[in-house]
Amino acid sequence: MPRHTISYESFASPEDLTTEDKSLLQTAKAALPNSYSPYSNFQVAAAARLEDGTIVTGWNTENAAYPMCICAEPATLAAAASQRPGMAVVAMAITVKSPKQVLDQPASPCGSCRQQLHEHETRFRKKMKLILQGETGPVYVFASAGNLLPFGFSGELL
Ligand code: THU
Repeated sequence: MPRHTISYESFASPEDLTTEDKSLLQTAKAALPNSYSPYSNFQVAAAARLEDGTIVTGWNTENAAYPMCICAEPATLAAAASQRPGMAVVAMAITVKSPKQVLDQPASPCGSCRQQLHEHETRFRKKMKLILQGETGPVYVFASAGNLLPFGFSGELL
């Protein structure tokens, strides 16, 4: 039987990350208040590190017409593309916050976000490290966004 294994690292706290990953996560957390999420009250923010070391941030932006909500991850990819056209994002820290409860586990990017992160990787032929944390608790680190999307749809078929 063929198998897919998803590998990631779990760190007890941001203190255990490399200095640059810890800083990227801190930058994502600092961006949480920018989230425009009056309908879900669920804040998501991300910080991306580009190939040249540039850091850009993004957050979820909701809309009264709910399906038009923009997730933090594609917002961050768009911010990166705007600031450094044609440059790969090599790492993205993603964090979440809710007024309902202290989120002590990372939230995984939704399916649509995974597809967009994966396409970014294939487009630039570079792996994008993902660093995920809730408001507190463990930090999950995926060496490649593609690890989160086994059997993802690929443009190679088009
Ligand atoms: N959201 C993200 O920003 N990223 C995800 O990967 C999942 C969900 C946002 C969309 C919406 O504003 C809120 O979280 C609740 O779904």
